Amino acid sequence: MRIGVDYYPEHWDRKMWSADARLMAETGVKLVRLAEFAWCRLEPSDGVFDFDWLDDAVRIFADHGIDVVIGTPTNCPPRWLCEKHPDILPVGDSGKTNPIGIRGHRCMNSPVFREYAGRIVDRLAAHYKNFGNVIAWQIDNELEANICYCETCTDKHREWLKNKYGTIEALNRAYGNVVWSGEYSSWEQVDPPYGGYNPAWLNPAYMLDLRRRAAEDVTEFAEFQADIFRSHIPGAKITTNTWFCSNIPAFRELFADLDFVSYDNYPATGIPDDYEDIYTHAPHLDLMRGIKRKDFWIMEQLSGGIGCWMPMQKTTRPGMIKGYALQAFAHGADTVVHFRWRTANTGAEMHWHGLIDHSNVPGRRFAEFAELCREAEGLADLRGTELHADAAVLFSPESEAAFKLQPQTDGFSYMEQIKLIHQAFARYGVNVDIIDEHEDISQYKIICVPALYIVNDDTVSRLYSFARSGGTVVITARSGVKDSNNNCIMEQLPTVYKELAGCHVSEYDPIGWSRAKLRFTDGAVFDCRQWCDILETDTAEALACYDSDFYAGKPAVTVNRYGSGTAYYIGTVGERRMYEKLAKTMLDDSGIPYIAELPENVEVTVRTGNGVAAMFVFNNSGSEKTVHLDGKDITLEPFGMSIIRK
Ligand code: GLA
Ligand code: ZN
Repeated sequence: MRIGVDYYPEHWDRKMWSADARLMAETGVKLVRLAEFAWCRLEPSDGVFDFDWLDDAVRIFADHGIDVVIGTPTNCPPRWLCEKHPDILPVGDSGKTNPIGIRGHRCMNSPVFREYAGRIVDRLAAHYKNFGNVIAWQIDNELEANICYCETCTDKHREWLKNKYGTIEALNRAYGNVVWSGEYSSWEQVDPPYGGYNPAWLNPAYMLDLRRRAAEDVTEFAEFQADIFRSHIPGAKITTNTWFCSNIPAFRELFADLDFVSYDNYPATGIPDDYEDIYTHAPHLDLMRGIKRKDFWIMEQLSGGIGCWMPMQKTTRPGMIKGYALQAFAHGADTVVHFRWRTANTGAEMHWHGLIDHSNVPGRRFAEFAELCREAEGLADLRGTELHADAAVLFSPESEAAFKLQPQTDGFSYMEQIKLIHQAFARYGVNVDIIDEHEDISQYKIICVPALYIVNDDTVSRLYSFARSGGTVVITARSGVKDSNNNCIMEQLPTVYKELAGCHVSEYDPIGWSRAKLRFTDGAVFDCRQWCDILETDTAEALACYDSDFYAGKPAVTVNRYGSGTAYYIGTVGERRMYEKLAKTMLDDSGIPYIAELPENVEVTVRTGNGVAAMFVFNNSGSEKTVHLDGKDITLEPFGMSIIRK
């Protein structure tokens, strides 16, 4: 287990570098990430490269036994390049070129940009392959699948559509363009969605295709850079740091060609009181691990209070710096890189706090970080261990994008659906995977399919055979709603899952923030919100019925025997306790071992491998907790972690 920091030598006086590196080495920092925004210093003018300063920094770190990850600076083309070739800049929805001033100001598809980006990546690879302590490469920074409205992108999209649909008539049919007289008569009429409209006003089929293509572009851009590295450095270790941005890339495809996943992890510092408010980043971490189904890195980790494009948030509470890094380890991270060594004194992010404050006087947060570094050294034996899970949640970036385009009802969130079901199982201390819907599911006992809105035939048939051969499937409301064009399917919901669920939706009630009630056959009553599918059972039996409104008495949650397996259908969004009740039944029925009594917000995961098994017991709360495990009481401080080797 390795701890690193994000460091920006170009932000600091050169005289500070050695002292910083010395303190890092003394503290136990094993690696730094450098240079991901430093293009203007690496290539101060066209074709004139200056790597001397970065060489010095890399050597200083080498002298202190610290490894380096170099980030490619392609997120931030320098001003001279933007001036010389304004067509590398992205174009916004007004049709006007976006001004420079922030970052991310490049069109990934621009051929001129590709030339310059390719050239600097090539130079960096050729140069730094000779530095023994440069151990990995980060492509760009937080790549996002945003839509660019430039001519190159528009032409590219038209070609993409021609490939996909063949004829303009087929495209019109697929999109239902007859609605509002939107039929195209030529490919040239297919424009990006100018005008800055709320996407909900636009054709969902057209919008989803745009998002798909933008996501493919990101994958292709990363591959373009990765290929350059590999041409110089066979076996180069390449990643890109990702997060849950507004337009998320296609995680699985993006990382398919890269060597490991890395994630920028910023858990909340203000802990909400309401149990319904899921603040843990455990689901995010499990999803990141699920992308390649192996250990991953945190490339940026919470270090202090955040704030810059929002008002400043609470500082990291005592225990959080250490606890949240160890929580990442507990979910499969093998390296955690803290953002950032020192808070910036200049630039827009000067209030996004690092480990050391503006004063450069190490304080409370730094002392806790030093403790983390010491503890991480004691975990060396767990390197290469992994999490193995019997339960998994399916995640679909396409459904995520489609829900963002059409938000359904007030407060309905796809990510919340994922988290609710993930947390219900995690509550019992079992490992839970979150994997892409296209991944193999045969090794699991329970597969949860929250709101799998867009139908993919292959996923559907794998879910049927999984249940047939004895697995438990959990389907929730808004599954099976749309075909692959993001159009509604003309069948009773849950359409393709109807036979598996053994029930159908006779009508639905999108209740938003209003409350409904449901009652289980054993008398347990729960609130529900956002969505009520009014169910009719076919072969299923009702486990819970609504206890409110005109559909009181109608089924809300059902269970169906299918083949040798079982399918649950949850037609609403319930309280967390409702999911926990169902999860317990499923764990019992599937014979998965679990911990029946864990205090609220205590998280347990197990990593195994290399002949070791370690149980991570984490108190993800601001108050002391006592956990009773294997006949012993363990007391955990706020955000405290206990690691028990078996
Ligand atoms: C992101 C970026 C960083 C920095 C941090 C904090 O995660 O990758 O460059 O901007 O946010 O602001
Ligand atoms: Zn463009």
